[in-house]
Amino acid sequence: MPAPVAIATHPLIQHQLARLRAAETRPPEFRALVAAIARGLFFEATRELRLEPLSVRTPLAETTGQRIAERLGLVPVLRAGLGMAEAMLEMMPEAVVWHLGLYRDHTTLKPVTYYNKLPPQPPMDVALVLDPMLATGGSAVAAIDILKKAGTPRIIFVGLIAAPEGVAALQAAHPEVPIVLAALDSHLNDRGYIVPGLGDAGDRQFGTA
Ligand code: PRP
Ligand code: URA
Repeated sequence: MPAPVAIATHPLIQHQLARLRAAETRPPEFRALVAAIARGLFFEATRELRLEPLSVRTPLAETTGQRIAERLGLVPVLRAGLGMAEAMLEMMPEAVVWHLGLYRDHTTLKPVTYYNKLPPQPPMDVALVLDPMLATGGSAVAAIDILKKAGTPRIIFVGLIAAPEGVAALQAAHPEVPIVLAALDSHLNDRGYIVPGLGDAGDRQFGTA
């Protein structure tokens, strides 16, 4: 039984997702929407983080609060995961960021790794792999392969839009990895793009189409 796939149904996220998909949305608004949706998904992706008690003095009394007791790593898949990582880092500045450079070969649709500076046993207890698009699943599977090889104890995939083919590939390769999404779309077209999707997430963020 694979780990759950959580689809964020919150009205604000779905409202922003529709704007993100729209072909007329230009890169500045597109980036703001990626950030806004990523913030919403961050709550869902971190809901199982372990807490520990801590003593807090308010202006009135001593009380007990809680703080996160695990080291969180953000692992944006370049390029398109960058906007998600920036938004999450603003919410939790203590997180560490490990960039992974992967691109999808346009002919074979297979991922090619071009940047990876992960040390063995990177200092994090939980890694969030951040990539807006889970299409064939090749990039996500390769990113998680790299993290596992380095010895990362727990991994969660966070994306904006997935195709059923990508979810199936990720669950087959890494069944214990939970998946958090804003939408699960219909299918992949013959060029490996998610339908209806939003087009090329990297190009639309950075204006390179
Ligand atoms: C996109 C996207 C994912 C990948 C998904 O990146 O950000 O990384 O495609 O496709 P897959 O599930 O079939 O592997 P792309 O290769 O376009 O690279 P870029 O972000 O550098 O433009
Ligand atoms: N990568 C993207 O950016 N978009 C898709 O639809 C598929 C892969």
